[in-house]
Amino acid sequence: MRSYRIAAMGGDGIGPEVISAGVEVLKACAERDGGFQLDFTDFDWGSDYYRKHGVMMPADGADQLRAFDAILFGAVGAPDIPDHVTLWGLRLAICQPLDQYANVRPTRVLPGITSPLRNVSGPELDWVIVRENSEGEYSGVGGRAHRGLPIEVAQDVSIMTRAGVQRIMRYAFRLAQSRPRKLLTVVTKSNAQRHAMVMWDEIAAEIATEFPDVTWDKMLVDAMTMRMVIKPATIDTIVASNLHADILSDLAAALAGSLGIAPTANINPERDTPSMFEPIHGSAFDITGKGIANPIATFWTASMMLDHLGEPNAAQRLMRAIEHTTANPNLHTPDLGGPATTRQVTDAVCEALRMAN
Ligand code: NAI
Ligand code: MG
Repeated sequence: MRSYRIAAMGGDGIGPEVISAGVEVLKACAERDGGFQLDFTDFDWGSDYYRKHGVMMPADGADQLRAFDAILFGAVGAPDIPDHVTLWGLRLAICQPLDQYANVRPTRVLPGITSPLRNVSGPELDWVIVRENSEGEYSGVGGRAHRGLPIEVAQDVSIMTRAGVQRIMRYAFRLAQSRPRKLLTVVTKSNAQRHAMVMWDEIAAEIATEFPDVTWDKMLVDAMTMRMVIKPATIDTIVASNLHADILSDLAAALAGSLGIAPTANINPERDTPSMFEPIHGSAFDITGKGIANPIATFWTASMMLDHLGEPNAAQRLMRAIEHTTANPNLHTPDLGGPATTRQVTDAVCEALRMAN
């Protein structure tokens, strides 16, 4: 039997709640499929670990994860620890050394869920955002000096390399090519940022010649926010820098109904290292421990994980079970305006999996 080793890391806030739900659903997927098994190892890294050890994870944390086939990650962030400490100490401390340079964010309006856009009932909004996940505005390069003095200076340097832009463009064009519409929008800001973003545009045009069957266009990021709201059906696959895609994907999640259903995957396309699958949302302190966190984002990313592991049938079966569940408004959690608990949604998806063919 095929067997996969999965590192499960709930992290902070509602992270452990949605990840334990995700592990349950993944076990139901494996059982239903019968062709593979999943072997989970739990990691307690995160803010509690930080309070005990002064670090978010052990120094060799990323190396420990190399032994796994994939990582299922919840969220990181605590009210009493600065966000840049938690984010750089755990999530980015995994993504960067494991070179998960393609962050992939599918957005669709699932059955039963209402988009805040008046003219969108479903098929008009079906996007995948590809976010550059290793450099750009979040490269971590910069510094701060003369703290507290009038001459204090602080700098975050955006870094773009030819190799980094080439590999993300190639990934995005290939993904666009694999989708029915073969349509890619390259998001840029080369009018105002006249060095790196101009190179970004040039490399997009170079890589486009390798994909003659993909139709592509270029859009300034500010105009892109308007297009997403006003003409969503003109968009299919999107590629954008780390910062731009970070912002656009929260907008995309909201347009698809809720942050609580939006998934993401941090992919190392060469498969030299394990990829990491997570809900887009954060640790949501306001609802932690209440049992009402929406687990759908985690289930959707679990489906992406199965697909990445080479189990497309199980991935599609899980996606159908998710859609079967969202179609029933009584199974919506409060973020979607419904009465359901995390437990009820999880049970419903497991039940739908057992019934699925
Ligand atoms: P958030 O995503 O945690 O919450 C935003 C709003 O959405 C809250 O009202 C929350 O209750 C709601 N929400 C989020 N996920 C939900 C779910 N699954 N079900 C129902 N409602 C849900 O973002 P916020 O409040 O900006 O950040 C909280 C903490 O999370 C911060 O420390 C932040 O740094 C961290 N964060 C971590 C991320 C990660 O680990 N990838 C991503 C975003 C934020
Ligand atoms: Mg974000």
